[in-house]
This record gives sequence, structure tokens and C-alpha cells, in this order.
Amino acid sequence: MAKEGSEKAEETEKMIDQEAAKEAAEGSGSSSLRAAADPKEMRAVLLSGFGGLNKLRVAKKVMPEPQEGELKIRVKACGLNFIDLMVRQGNIDNPPKTPLIPGFECSGIIEALGESVKGFEIGDRVMAFVNYNAWAEVVCTPAEFVYKIPDDMGYSEAAAFPMNFVTAYMMLFEVANLREGMSVLVHSAGGGVGQAVAQLCSTIPNVTIFGTASSFKHEAIKDSVTHLFDRNADYVQEVKKISLDGVDIVLDCLCGENTGKGLGLLKPLGTYILYGSSNMVTGETKSFFSFAKSWWQVEKVNPIKLYEENKVIAGFYLLNLLFKQNRGGLIKGIMDKLITLYNEKKIKPLVDSLWALEEVKEAMQRIHDRGNIGKLILDVEKAPTPLSSSSVPFY
Ligand SMILES: NC(=O)c1ccc[n+]([C@@H]2O[C@H](COP(=O)([O-])OP(=O)(O)OC[C@H]3O[C@@H](n4cnc5c(N)ncnc54)[C@H](OP(=O)(O)O)[C@@H]3O)[C@@H](O)[C@H]2O)c1
Repeated sequence: MAKEGSEKAEETEKMIDQEAAKEAAEGSGSSSLRAAADPKEMRAVLLSGFGGLNKLRVAKKVMPEPQEGELKIRVKACGLNFIDLMVRQGNIDNPPKTPLIPGFECSGIIEALGESVKGFEIGDRVMAFVNYNAWAEVVCTPAEFVYKIPDDMGYSEAAAFPMNFVTAYMMLFEVANLREGMSVLVHSAGGGVGQAVAQLCSTIPNVTIFGTASSFKHEAIKDSVTHLFDRNADYVQEVKKISLDGVDIVLDCLCGENTGKGLGLLKPLGTYILYGSSNMVTGETKSFFSFAKSWWQVEKVNPIKLYEENKVIAGFYLLNLLFKQNRGGLIKGIMDKLITLYNEKKIKPLVDSLWALEEVKEAMQRIHDRGNIGKLILDVEKAPTPLSSSSVPFY
């Protein structure tokens, strides 16, 4: 009975969404969106220059319109990823020019279709990758980066899904070939990618997951990871106490003094995947010292040792695969598999918290402070929570 009720509520919500999208598309929008009064304008988070949190603010921007092959999406929720902190700091390779609208993924409702788009309709509920510009009320992105949301999935979950789960899936199954009985080490196990890795590992029988995370997260994530260590512990020693010959797969998103340690932990024929450089973030702005230190450590890896020791070292960077290396078709296939796993209730994004666009600084601070368990979401329709006089920050 309760299920029937919730199904009806979902159906109604979907119909309202479709109506709102059609109204907006026809210019007669009476929906309750907190949109700018001028239909040619929208609210968006703006990064005015690279640096600290004070470089972020919400501003009015010109409403984008879809080009050929693109979809226009009325955004409901956006994913906030660690890479967004690095973009804000200018801590990435070839940073684009500022000012810019940050953000690489969102969920929402299709409001218009560019020429020659097939397979989508106005009113479809979708999640999408965007090459920047996701943190706005409206985005346009090529249809190849857009995926329909399963009926059971809400907008927050959908905004938490693509980046974390595609990254985790590609590394485990496309790069490392995870199979029954293997073992995996993952850092930041309580974060967005970390939790996606843990859930996908649990779809394969008998996989042992070793994870590192700040200690206060252990109680919350203990059921998803076989062996948890504090992020400051000597994880090489800890893993070896349990598994003397190490692990089959090391997923390293830290990049830095740990590269050699992680490689040393691999079993013969094991795979080490470097996919992030969180260690480069040591404060609110870019640190040239940690940047140099991280790359110095990586360059100390000796390729000749790799064949002598039967080890595989690999790199993975989803955004380049999507936006520079034209692998949108491959990723679409992976998304289909992930949506099937979601529908089978084998995976489910873990959402840490929801924030208004105006709260983007506080949301980012939560990641800087290592406070998140799962993914942070910017909820476009959420009103900022008023601050009490005692908690008003000085910036
Ligand atoms: N290559 C790719 O395609 C790709 C795609 C997505 C993400 N990534 C990378 O994967 C990693 C995880 O990304 P995510 O978006 O899921 O973020 P996340 O894990 O939710 O990031 C936040 C967590 O990272 C840990 N952390 C490690 N170093 C940190 C530092 N210097 N400052 C603050 N927190 C730090 C903290 O957890 P603990 O304190 O518990 O360790 C923190 O709670 C990042 O390195 C990201 O760049 C790569």
C-alpha cells in the first residue's frame, strides 16, 4: 500500500516536472523555480579568478541556448567534486581562462533540444557531464554526455552518480580487470569515489577492500570496507599485517610521497592506478611546494623495475577521456551498465549533504576540512540556510 502511494507520488512529481519544463520551453513558465525574472538570464556560481574561497560568488549570467547536437537542461542539482577545489585553486593542467562557471556534472529536466538531437524529449529527467558550466540554473551540453535518470532515482542522487561511479567502474573493470577473490586498496574510502569503489567491489564475490579514511568516518562506512585504517596510519604496514604479499589493485588519488609505497604493496601482476592528486591541496590556495613535491615523487618511479617485478602502473582521468579524447560513446556504455546495477539495487550514491548555490563556499570548506562522507550536492532550488549571528564567517 505504502509502495503504491510512493509510486503515485513519483508519477505525479514526474508529470509536474514535465509540465514545468514544457511551460518554461514555451515561455509561459508559472513554475516555482527561483529563476531570475528576465528569461534571458540565469543564476550561476562564478569563479572570478583562481585562488581561495573568496573567488566564488553567485551572479546573473546570460541564459545559454542549445547548439546543434546539444540539450538544454533546467538544472535541479549539481555534483561538487574534489577536482572543483583544484580548479578553484588553478591547481590543474592547462587551466581555462577565468571568469568561469565551475562544475562538471548535474541533473535536471530537458527544456529544449538542439538540431539533430535524437532519443530525448522535452521533460525527460536526465543526468549529464558538462565541460565546466554545470553550477547554474541552466546548462547546455552535447547529447552524448546526457543519460536518462531511472524512475527511482532522485535529482540529488543523480547529480552524485556519473563522475564517482564511472571513475570507479572504469578503474576497477576496464583498467584493472577486477575479478573474484582479488583485493583492492582505496584511499579516501569515505569520499564520493571511495564509496563508489567500495560498492562496485561488493558486486564481485570475495573481494577484500582495504581503505584509508579519517577516523571519525569509520563507524559510518565500516560495513562497506573490509579493513579500514586511519588516513595517518602506516597503511603499508597495516595491510601487510593482514595480507603479507600485498594487494592486487592500488587506487591512488593522493599522489605524492605515497607513490613508491603503493607500488611496493602490489602483488605480482597487480595494477597501480594513479587518478588524483589530493595531496597537492594543502591549504585554501595553490601550494607550489606540494605541487613540485608530488611530481618529483611520481617521476621517481622506475619503469625498468615494473617489468622485473611484473607490475602494471596506469593512469586514469575521466574528464580528459570525455572532453579531449572523444570517448563519450564508451562512457555511455559504462553508464548503461551502472544504471542496470542501480536498478538491481546493487549500487546507490551516498549523498553527504545538500547546499544552495549561495552556500558553495561553505560546501567547499567542508571538503577542505575532510568532513564529507559521500558526495556534496549543490541544490539549485534550495534557499540558503540563514546563519545565526554567532556563526557568521568573516569573509
Ligand atoms: N581521475 C579521475 O577521473 C577522477 C575522477 C573523480 C575523482 N578523482 C579524484 O579522486 C579523489 C576523490 O575525489 P572525490 O571527488 O570523490 O572527493 P572525496 O573523496 O569526497 O574528497 C574529499 C575527501 O578526500 C580526502 N582528502 C585527501 N586529501 C585531502 C586534502 N588534501 N584535503 C582535503 N581532503 C582530502 C578527505 O577524506 P579523508 O580525510 O577521510 O581521507 C576528504 O573528506 C580526488 O583526488 C579526485 O581528484 C579523479
